Amino acid sequence: MKRIAVFTSGGDAPGMNACIRAVVRGAVYHGLDVFGIRRGYNGMINGDIFQMSSHSVSNIVQRGGTILKSARSKEFMTPEGRKKAYDQLQKFGIEGLIAIGGNGTFTGATLFYDEYGIPTVGAPGTIDNDLYGTDYTIGFDTAVNTALEAIDKIRDTADSHDRIFFIEVMGRDSGYIAIQSGIAGGAELVMVPEVLTPISEVVETLKAGWSRQKSSSIIVVAEGEEEGNANEIAEKIRQQVQSDIDMRVTTLGHIQRGGIPTAYDRILASRLGLGALEGLMNGEKNVMAGVVNNELVYTPFKDTIRLPKPINEDLLRMVKILSV
Ligand code: F6P
Repeated sequence: MKRIAVFTSGGDAPGMNACIRAVVRGAVYHGLDVFGIRRGYNGMINGDIFQMSSHSVSNIVQRGGTILKSARSKEFMTPEGRKKAYDQLQKFGIEGLIAIGGNGTFTGATLFYDEYGIPTVGAPGTIDNDLYGTDYTIGFDTAVNTALEAIDKIRDTADSHDRIFFIEVMGRDSGYIAIQSGIAGGAELVMVPEVLTPISEVVETLKAGWSRQKSSSIIVVAEGEEEGNANEIAEKIRQQVQSDIDMRVTTLGHIQRGGIPTAYDRILASRLGLGALEGLMNGEKNVMAGVVNNELVYTPFKDTIRLPKPINEDLLRMVKILSV
């Protein structure tokens, strides 16, 4: 393999730039031609492809977002879109791809290989940490720290005004950000999509706190929580408690996706970028590079897509114990 390309796809995540840098510098080190594709699969379809050098990735290791930009491409999900993408890759002579993204990205790469035989190795880039095959994904640690900083600030107001705050964090189908930021932020309860927390349990927890003279509480809610979003949950609780308790809801939203990546994310991203590149060079295809128990491993896309990554329920138990 002489010529490869790298792209980022799906939601951006802090550390993606450090990953791009590792792919590009690794390719230069190993004597490969390396191209960047802008805006994920959309750029592949439109031929938004350019040659990169060591210099193209100078001064980006510390930057959030992605210099290659990102998109969730609907067109690539059609056979016509993939044909256009293949024609563009042919035009540039690209023989292999490094995809930095999540499950949607890897689903696209699998279809593409089945139809056109272009091998892809993935690097897990998503703040949600919901990918099987790696202990942590690129961006998760930064997102948790961003959420934590917000929780710490909100706690000051919760305490000053004797309020209950419901803080909604990201995680479409996953409670990883909620549980980590909730534990670190000393939340009274964490609600995640993976484990049902009935409203009655939330009410009980709050009442138990009041009986112990607890005057403020923080409840962290993951975006994908089954009982509804943080506003809906707060409303249900207001109805059940039927008192004029002072409640507020804060949705942290996209502030969790941006920002300077933590040292942990930069190091993980560098390791996964180089690991993905060297995997591709060694003949790996349709796999995602991951770090499990501090070892670099490759997991087939079909498993990262299909298999759930369960949260550690013991951590939820700990939240309850530590909030007495
Ligand atoms: O997958 C990462 C994520 O941040 C999810 O937690 C969230 O549901 C989603 O992306 C939001 O996507 P968008 O930026 O397209 O609204």
